[in-house]
Amino acid sequence: MTAPSATPVPTGSMNEAGARLVAWYDRHRRALPWRDTSDPYRIWVSEVMLQQTRVETVIPYYHAFLERFPTVHALAAADSDDVLRLWQGLGYYRRARHLHEAAQQLVRQWDGRFPADIRAFRRLPGVGDYTAGAVYSIAFGEPVPAIDGNVARVFARWLGIEEPMDKPAVRKSVEAVIRQWQQAFGPSRVTQAVMELGATVCMPRLWRCDDCPLAAECEARRGQRQGDLPVRRARGARPVMDVLALLVHGGGRVLLVRRPAEGLLADMWQLPAVERPRAESAPSPTDDELLAWGREAFGAWGCDGLRVLGRARHEFTHRVWDVTLLEASQWSPQAVRELERTWVAAAWAAPDEWPRYPLARVYERLLHLWLHPAKSADSQVNRV
Ligand code: ADE
Repeated sequence: MTAPSATPVPTGSMNEAGARLVAWYDRHRRALPWRDTSDPYRIWVSEVMLQQTRVETVIPYYHAFLERFPTVHALAAADSDDVLRLWQGLGYYRRARHLHEAAQQLVRQWDGRFPADIRAFRRLPGVGDYTAGAVYSIAFGEPVPAIDGNVARVFARWLGIEEPMDKPAVRKSVEAVIRQWQQAFGPSRVTQAVMELGATVCMPRLWRCDDCPLAAECEARRGQRQGDLPVRRARGARPVMDVLALLVHGGGRVLLVRRPAEGLLADMWQLPAVERPRAESAPSPTDDELLAWGREAFGAWGCDGLRVLGRARHEFTHRVWDVTLLEASQWSPQAVRELERTWVAAAWAAPDEWPRYPLARVYERLLHLWLHPAKSADSQVNRV
């Protein structure tokens, strides 16, 4: 095992490798919209959107978001529903809530400007070491590292690090290399070059070592260990929640409810639903079992004539929702009152009004399944 402090690359050739890396970046960098600007706000928005989300997915959201909220002040003044709506479909909605709150704090405390001290920015909601490092190195040229999954993978392979990358000693040794390169070749260029290498050459399940500027010293390549590095922490099976969603409609309108302001998919809208954890390795429930559960859960609300319309699966990082759509052909007015008591808010909305309600993606799919039954969404997996 290679100790993280004993990097196999001698200091002299460290800078040669860095020089190759930035030269490669200058030639091969993709033209991405956030690379045309040094506006820290735009770079910040891009980095928040890019966490857990692919570049191709982010680009249209990035443009729409900045068109609507072109400055920190515009975002701070926005209605939180408008912010969520522009985030709809990007997933990890807490990112949007934090970005909004952080913009409000920037306006309150620094008149909308970025603080000179990165530590003050780091204290804003949702801003971690990675985001602070990315914004301050790319926008302000400060020599601070930004280590995300891509960057960690590049270094784990290049240095042959056989320990988890979040170990403090490991991080320190990687940060030291990044800072050394940043001093020599410019912080913004180095931060983006390493990210780009991880995103386009040194990828998780595909490594194009022939195109890699760091291949000469790469420990993983030498030992054909690219697929084994970085080492993964064992991840247990994700718990599955069975969710029953209730479709109550009349006059072309559907009853929607709002989720609580805290927790998963906070403040988003959905259909009224109940959920229960599935026993480990138990099979998914049958339609009959789901109907019996539906009668028990929704019968008390005066809902009757239930039938199963379809299912959709939604995978979060730490859990899975298996959502079944149940249509009720009858319900009592009392049911609506009960629902309003159970949920934060309820609203009747026709399909052309749905865009006004930031809908959780899986519910959006289920509602479209109801509108367009021919395009069955059964078994669709929606990753956030
Ligand atoms: N992933 C995270 N940040 C990125 C950036 N600035 N450019 C491309 N991919 C990224």
